Parts: sequence; structure tokens; C-alpha cells
Amino acid sequence: MDYNHLLVKTENNISVVTLNRPEALNALNKELLNELSLFLEAAESNPEIRVIILTGSGEKSFVAGADIKEFSDFDGREGELLSREGQKRVFDKIENLSKPVIAAVNGFALGGGLELAMSCHFRIASDNARLGLPEVTLGLIPGYGGTQRLPKLVGKGRAAQMIFTAEMISAQRAYEIGLVNEVVSQAELLERAQTIATKIASNSSTAIAKAIQTLNASDSDSGFDLEIKSFGELFETADFKEGVAAFLEKRKADFSHRN
Ligand code: CAA
Repeated sequence: MDYNHLLVKTENNISVVTLNRPEALNALNKELLNELSLFLEAAESNPEIRVIILTGSGEKSFVAGADIKEFSDFDGREGELLSREGQKRVFDKIENLSKPVIAAVNGFALGGGLELAMSCHFRIASDNARLGLPEVTLGLIPGYGGTQRLPKLVGKGRAAQMIFTAEMISAQRAYEIGLVNEVVSQAELLERAQTIATKIASNSSTAIAKAIQTLNASDSDSGFDLEIKSFGELFETADFKEGVAAFLEKRKADFSHRN
């Protein structure tokens, strides 16, 4: 499929998706979000794709937020719709995808850009990355899940400071507070993301899909029950039989990646 604002390259079961609106620092406009939503739907049902890496084009920005020019004349109803539809069609879809999505944060991750990175399953960053939620400088609050995901990642106090001050933090500070898992040089960023993705792609995708579901339930009352049920269900899969047989036969597992 051809996209106007996404560059997609799939190799060795890993899709690298580059958000590509460099003239606007990859800000999320309607068309880009729509394309991302379509890509995610296609990726979900494509067995060739086991891991997704999201990054931004150019060396300056991952994503500089929602497209401010596009919503500048919105009223309350349109604002609510932007937030609701965006969350449903993209941000929640990423979080609940059955395949891991890694954010490779290669520069500014601001507003909706940081929210996009936070909806991914984890984040690695280049050392020039700057992360923040500047919405209050526009008279807004984060609308793509930022008030909910940031406190879960860094604690309510740190999230409150970032949201109230609108200040950007460095990649190093983001690492210190657990917002990103690793910081590497920009030249190494994609290679490091690919190395992690390759490791993930060699494991059972059936088990990883269950791991995503149960991790996502960790904030709910049903998390432990879901873990117990999912653990049991995995004993019925071909990947379990292969994984255990490979261990006993002292060889590397060759997963079918099917239930
Ligand atoms: N929306 C639309 N266009 C944007 C944009 C955005 N979020 N961020 C940058 N751009 C555009 C600029 O308007 C500029 O385009 P023109 O040359 O046509 O004017 C181009 O990208 C380059 O940007 P700058 O000249 O501003 O670059 P800079 O290096 O001087 O500054 C920056 C970089 C600090 C990231 C600055 O661009 C900036 O502050 N951007 C806005 C960040 C922001 O407020 N994000 C939150 C958006 S609201 C949101 O996301 C709501 C939500 O939660 C749903």
C-alpha cells in the first residue's frame, strides 16, 4: 500500500515505519493519523510482521505533536472528536496491537508525539531527543492519552511537573525517570531498535501477544486472573510444544508463530 506520510519497510519480520512530514517536524495531521491507523490494521493481520518500529523522518524530530494548524479553529465538539477518534484509531490500537511496537525517538517528541511514543510498548531514544507535553502553553491539556500514560510510566508527581511546566526534558533525564529504556547516539538508534526487534521476533509471537494483553491488564483488577488464564491457554499451542521440545533436545526453537 502507498502512503503519503508514512515510509514503511518490512524485512526479516520487522516493519520500520517512518512518520514522514519533515516540513512540519512530522506533526500528526488527519491524513498521517489515518494512514497510521490503516497500517496498524494491515499489520495486525499480516503474519509476516512480528515487530514494528516507529520513528520520525529527519534528524530533528520524532513527532512535534498534533498538527496545531489543523485544529486552530476547532470548537469544543471538534476538539473532543479529535481526541476520541485519535485515541481509538491510533493510540489505543498501538497499545493493544498483538505485536510489539517500539518507539525509536530520534528528536523532538512533544505533545501528541510523546503521547504516540508512550502508546508504544517501550521506547528507546537518541541522545539529542527532547521530550515534553507542551499543551498547556496552547491552553490545552494532552489529548492523546498523555495524562493517563505518563503517570503510569514516571509517577504522578513527575507527570504533573512535566504537564504543568510544559518543559522539555533531555533523553538522559527521560532515561533516569523510566520514560525511555535506553539512550544511544542518533547514528546507532535504528540499528539498536532493529537488534532488539530481531531478538523479539525470534521468540514465540503467540506468547508475546498474550504477554501484551496481560501487561496491558496490569492496571486493572483482572490482571492476575488474565495472566492465569493466558498461561494455561499457552500450554495448548504449537509454540509451547516446540519451545519445550527444543529446550529438552538442546537446540534452538523454531516457532511456527501460530496458535
Ligand atoms: N503542528 C504544526 N506544525 C508544526 C508543529 C505542530 N505541532 N510543530 C512544528 N511545526 C512546523 C512549524 O510551524 C514550522 O513550519 P513553518 O516553517 O511552515 O512555519 C516547522 O514545523 C518547523 O518548526 P519550527 O520553525 O518551529 O522549528 P524550531 O526548531 O524553531 O522549533 C519546536 C521546534 C520547538 C518543536 C517547535 O516547532 C514547537 O514548539 N512545535 C510545537 C510543539 C507543540 O506545542 N506540540 C504540541 C501540539 S498540541 C498536541 O499535541 C495536542 C494533543 O495532545 C492531542
